[in-house]
Amino acid sequence: MKIQICIGSSCHLKDSRELIELFQKSIKENNLENQVALMGSFCMGKCSNDGVSVRFDEGEVCSITKENFYKNFYEKVIKRV
Ligand code: FES
Repeated sequence: MKIQICIGSSCHLKDSRELIELFQKSIKENNLENQVALMGSFCMGKCSNDGVSVRFDEGEVCSITKENFYKNFYEKVIKRV
């Protein structure tokens, strides 16, 4: 699975850096290093979302915040890999 995290300026202000660390930590804790590739992306055109724009594989752009991170990680990563 490929996870693209927006590092454009608007998402950067919403702490995309911190979200990347959460992804890295959760991927490691779940031993998914060989199954999930984490990568940065330029602006995905969804700057007005509440959270940071994240795309899982070729799916729609999701709005991920620290608050909804674990729910999304479970639904969109753990359940699918
Ligand atoms: S900066 Fe992230 S969607 Fe625009």
